[in-house]
Amino acid sequence: MKILLTGARIIDPVQNIDAQMDMLLEDGKVAKIGTGLLKTAKKDSGKVNIIDLDGKIVVPGLIDMHTHLREPGQEYKETIASGAAAAVAGGFTSIACMPNTSPINDNRSITEFIKRKAVEVSLANVYPIGAISNGSAGSQLTEFWDMKEAGIIAISDDGKPVMDAALMRRAMEYAYSLGLPVISHCEDTNLSGNGLINEGYYSTVLGLRGIPGIAEEAMIARDILIAEFTNTCVHIAHVSTAGSVRLIRDAKKRGLQVTAETAPHYFTLTDEALQSYDTNFKVNPPLRSEKDVEAIKEGLSDGTLDVIACDHAPHGRTDKEVEFEYAANGISGLETSLALSISLVQNKVLGWSELITKMSANPARILNLPKGTLEAGADADITVIDPQLKWTVDVQVFRSRGKNSPFHGRPLQGKAILTIVGGEIKYDGR
Ligand code: DOR
Repeated sequence: MKILLTGARIIDPVQNIDAQMDMLLEDGKVAKIGTGLLKTAKKDSGKVNIIDLDGKIVVPGLIDMHTHLREPGQEYKETIASGAAAAVAGGFTSIACMPNTSPINDNRSITEFIKRKAVEVSLANVYPIGAISNGSAGSQLTEFWDMKEAGIIAISDDGKPVMDAALMRRAMEYAYSLGLPVISHCEDTNLSGNGLINEGYYSTVLGLRGIPGIAEEAMIARDILIAEFTNTCVHIAHVSTAGSVRLIRDAKKRGLQVTAETAPHYFTLTDEALQSYDTNFKVNPPLRSEKDVEAIKEGLSDGTLDVIACDHAPHGRTDKEVEFEYAANGISGLETSLALSISLVQNKVLGWSELITKMSANPARILNLPKGTLEAGADADITVIDPQLKWTVDVQVFRSRGKNSPFHGRPLQGKAILTIVGGEIKYDGR
């Protein structure tokens, strides 16, 4: 069956397209973008599923390059099936999943397991990320090549930093030679210590131990230096501070191969929210100050931050409904990421094309995925957005098992209403 998407505003930053046009999908691929395709389709009636999308926006399928699925090992938090369902409901046709499952994805068999499950589930494309070190324990490199053959698309010890600079150097050198991006969770644990929230005014008045911005910045500075020294590349995960943005901006100015992402909570919330002691606001790195939020927006706007990735970190009630100190870090983000990011367009921080670049084309480029564009012949991975749709976040209707969202009850505008993966409709919220 062919699908004709008609009447929508089509945005494809890679092809520099932003216009009202029609798009024909055939055999799982983008067949054609143009005007007047409806006439031909009508002649072909019965063989074409014609979808009228007047007032809607059609973009290359969104890619979240920083998702935590909890399978294997912690299926009560999330399974590959529930995570992939949350992805398509949130408008994501592809997700890259971090290796901090239980056991850690530090070998071929776990990578193969994740890939096999994702194919069985058949919702979003799921791309496993392999661990940098065995058990993400930070002492011994994993078998990058073996995992690459099994299907990993990047390496990271996310959830934990690689504290040993020599190990990180070897990881960057080896991964670069294999064409595997290194995604760095930047946190100097000697500086973050047993901190719970951002170190600043609120940590003082609330009596909660602080995590200083420098815990993130010192490690970013180190990784930039290693990338420079080894002439390799590094991708910085979940950037949260003004100082981090400055370091990455300077590194880019010097022509270094550094890319970076931030998450919606870092441009939406500040540590002021912690006054509620609500553990849904507890995340690592922690929510920062107003000044940091402004710097993150500037970093997005001037291109310092290449990607918006939600750091989807689903947890169960027993992980979150405990004393603040013991609560798990993380936010269930796949189903709110797009709408929170659309607010950047509403507030004129980004244009639509820039937003889609950060949520599709750039993650595809950084991860070397043949995705992120609507060129003829590309996989028909498509997200249809209703930019006007007003809705209120309700964690009870999340597809994700992780109901841990600080955005529950928040009114938002803009939502994915149709998600097509490989030419098949995987989510229809019309
Ligand atoms: O808040 C977080 N949650 N930060 C991380 O780095 C890990 C993640 C998780 O896996 O829950």
